Amino acid sequence: MTFDPKKFIETSVKEIQNKIGNERAIIAVSGGVDSFVAATIASKAVPGQLHSVYVDNGLMRKNETQKVTEVAKRLGVTLNVIDGRKRFLDALKGIIEPEQKRKIIGEMFVRVFEEEAKKHNVKFLIQGTIAPDWIESGGMGRDTIKSHHNVGGLPEKMHLKLCEPLRELYKHEVRMLGKELGLPEEIHQRQPFPGPGLAVRIVGEITEEKVKMVQEACEIVETEIDNACKQGKMERPWQYFAALLPSKTVGVRGDERAYQYTMIIRAVRSLDGMTANFSHIPFEILEKISTRITNEIHTVGRVTYDITNKPPGTIEME
Ligand code: XMP
Repeated sequence: MTFDPKKFIETSVKEIQNKIGNERAIIAVSGGVDSFVAATIASKAVPGQLHSVYVDNGLMRKNETQKVTEVAKRLGVTLNVIDGRKRFLDALKGIIEPEQKRKIIGEMFVRVFEEEAKKHNVKFLIQGTIAPDWIESGGMGRDTIKSHHNVGGLPEKMHLKLCEPLRELYKHEVRMLGKELGLPEEIHQRQPFPGPGLAVRIVGEITEEKVKMVQEACEIVETEIDNACKQGKMERPWQYFAALLPSKTVGVRGDERAYQYTMIIRAVRSLDGMTANFSHIPFEILEKISTRITNEIHTVGRVTYDITNKPPGTIEME
């Protein structure tokens, strides 16, 4: 059966109205297509009952908070920005185990939402959860591949009732909804970004210095690949970013020995994120990315390209 976005929106609006009734709801906006689509459908269903929240957890892409608030403003959404940078990074200090990181982040998000809920007399949390989030979190008796922050990362006890209008959908269907709802292309075609943010692109312990390194490297990868796609040099991957390894290797900077970090470039083709193949990026683009990363981020001395498919790899590192 083909997916009918118009019909889905009509049904979803009614379902949200039935579920929320006259209560108030927090809508959690992250800046990605899923949460913007969920927010737009929710604002059709229960306008005047929503409290839109964006949490800056210190693990977002470079200048992301500014970009997201600008887009929200253009869409007529008043976003309440919560600065959670110190709180999240403090809670993650010394943590290296990926599932532990995900659980800490999931719980922290909910605690922040609960605090907001208390202040604004809110009973529901509307999230842009999609099917791969709960499937990979071990839904319906499956093995847990990784606890997505908005499903398996949720605390056992939470005081908000969940409303997840996109729960049964895959990313390409959410993009169709975004187009149908008239969201700008920069949003409905935006590449996916994981809820736990750069925490899953920093293998091992997270520090502010490492977050900055990955922010810079992700921006270089995005800019160079976007430019190459515009120039027709390659096909736009489903997702493309940089990730940091915890170990250092030996290199030379100028005439001196250097002992520096390794940055991984990852770019994949996929339809729904459940399986993926690495993108065949022309070497000249990879070389430009590598040169820029080592020139502009002085703590990085080596750049590698990840040629692992999913399975056996996953798209993110953790
Ligand atoms: P993996 O790394 O499992 O990722 O191959 C599949 C897709 O899901 C994204 N991802 C997440 N999205 N919350 C999200 O909303 C999460 O906790 C999460 N973890 C991974 C990932 O970026 C990729 O698009």
